[in-house]
Amino acid sequence: MDTYLIRGGTRLSGEVKISGAKNAALPIIVGSLLADGETVLDNVPDLKDIHTIIQVIRCLGAECDFDTAANRLTIKVNSIKNAEVPYELVKTMRASIYVMGPLLARIGQADVSLPGGCAIGERPVDIHLTGFEALGTTISLEHGYIKARAGRLNGMQFKMRGISVGATANIMMAAVLARGKTVLENCAREPDVVDLGNFLVKMGAKISGLGSDLIEIEGVKRLEPVSYSIIPDRIEAGTYLIAGAATKGEITVKSAIPEHIVACMDALKDMGFVVDSGADRVSVKTSHKLSGTLVKTLPYPGFPTDLQAPMMALSATIPGINVIVETIFENRFTHVAELRRMGADITVEGNVVIVKGVEKLSSAPIMMSDLRAGAALVIAGLIAEGETEIRRIYHCDRGYERLENKLSVLGADIRRVKGGGL
Ligand code: EPU
Repeated sequence: MDTYLIRGGTRLSGEVKISGAKNAALPIIVGSLLADGETVLDNVPDLKDIHTIIQVIRCLGAECDFDTAANRLTIKVNSIKNAEVPYELVKTMRASIYVMGPLLARIGQADVSLPGGCAIGERPVDIHLTGFEALGTTISLEHGYIKARAGRLNGMQFKMRGISVGATANIMMAAVLARGKTVLENCAREPDVVDLGNFLVKMGAKISGLGSDLIEIEGVKRLEPVSYSIIPDRIEAGTYLIAGAATKGEITVKSAIPEHIVACMDALKDMGFVVDSGADRVSVKTSHKLSGTLVKTLPYPGFPTDLQAPMMALSATIPGINVIVETIFENRFTHVAELRRMGADITVEGNVVIVKGVEKLSSAPIMMSDLRAGAALVIAGLIAEGETEIRRIYHCDRGYERLENKLSVLGADIRRVKGGGL
């Protein structure tokens, strides 16, 4: 397995271009199954998770050609040949469950391995399933597989019991071809959901209320394949801004949508960093008046849970007390133990984390346990004294396109060592 070697202490500076959003691209790629013909997607990031979802839709009968140099994915759907997604694929990536919506809409059948828990919590899928049931699907669980059966789906009114990005996207994909009107309450407002909705609308779906907590969908008989460009990744943008701030550097993220990063920009400003934004760029630079702050993760437009770990790495050397409250996932703190090994002063009480700023972190051999925890460790390595070796970096490969290249352009001393570590 590859490892990262990072020699800390360089202030990042310069500009970095943001890639397409992983969490928008995943449901949009699956959403292409809703129409026969050729869909062309641009700004698709070249990531492990994207290659996995391509494998998933291939196993259902789609032909895919991913031009990674151009970030263009061409998907041809003639017919859906298979309705089963095996455990081997779902266990690598939970987002495989996104196929349920399109499969139920197109062929009234989906057999998908039930995702297990993962490093950040139990992550049930009950909201997806009750939504499908409300549309007229019968669901059973057999030998670890969710078996869903339906005739043509029927529109309905459904209030989700909690705000879920995945369930909102999945139920929306099922409802676009249902008979009649579907009203979804308590919807996720994340830009990724809105991007999926805009893609579906371009295909001919009738959807209103995207970006609000109430989405209305008037079912149509068929959708047409389209060309579409994925939005920039707000979590990647936030991660670089946080990394720039942590190294007391001065960086600009470009090809970003500042409106999507407001919560992160506000948190950095609260700490005393100087943040500026233009039409498609955001810059951060340090100041002499840094101090701890309170960050609470919330559904969009609140502070994203996906930036909680990077924020904790930044907080480690900000003077004073930082309080971080995680309200989305129950166990998203696997980075804490590794950050402590590097000298961070962190106390966890339930879902509340107190970080007392220390003067410096020091290098140590550390290990990633999930994607965003991994980003936090890279940031810690960038500010630590000495050379940090990070193992299991395949977690970062899932969600950050060319991470070490982009950081190197900003001046970081980071190297990937092929086949090192466990
Ligand atoms: N939940 C349920 N039942 C459900 C669905 C969700 O109880 O049926 C709970 C979850 O356990 C969690 C909360 O609701 O406590 C929110 O989960 P959500 O469904 O919104 O998360 P998700 O769709 O599984 C997506 C992103 C995550 C991101 C979360 C929250 C994708 C592929 N994944 O997950 O991204 O953290 O939304 O914003 O879009 C990542 O990129 O590293 C990542 C984990």
